Amino acid sequence: MKKELATALNTYLADLGVLYIKLHNLHWNVVGRDFKQVHEYLETLYDGVSGVLDEVAELLKMQGEQPLASLKDYLAAASVQELPSAELHSREVLAIVHGDMTNLRDQAQKIRVAADAEDGYAVVSMMESHLAQYNKTLWFVEAMQK
Ligand SMILES: [Fe+2]
Repeated sequence: MKKELATALNTYLADLGVLYIKLHNLHWNVVGRDFKQVHEYLETLYDGVSGVLDEVAELLKMQGEQPLASLKDYLAAASVQELPSAELHSREVLAIVHGDMTNLRDQAQKIRVAADAEDGYAVVSMMESHLAQYNKTLWFVEAMQK
C-alpha cells in the first residue's frame, strides 16, 4: 500500500474515532419535539460507526500498516470537529450529522479511487460498502430535515 493511501485511511479512521464520541454527545444532548426519534437514530449511527472503525483498523493491520489507536492520535489527525458538552436542538443536530457524514462519504470516495489505482481490491470493496451506508444515512437525515 502506498504511503498516501495508508495516511488517508488513518485520517478516515481518526475521523470515525472522533465521530463515535461526537454522536454520543449528540445522542445525550439533543432536545426538541422529535427528541425520541433523533436520540434513537443517533444510537443506530454510533453503533454503525463502531463497526466501521474496527473494520478500517483491522484492514490497515492486514495490509501491514499501523492504525492510529489512541484518542490523542485521533484528535491530532481528524478533520471532524468536536462539540462542547451542551444541549443542541434537533435541527442543529441533524445539520451537523449531515455535514460529518458527507465528509466521511467524500473521504471514502477518494480512498476508493486511490485504492483502485493500485489494485487494492480489499480497500475498494470495503469503501464501496461504506459508501452505500453513507448514502443511506444521508437519505434518512435529509428526509428528517424536511
Ligand atoms: Fe443511550
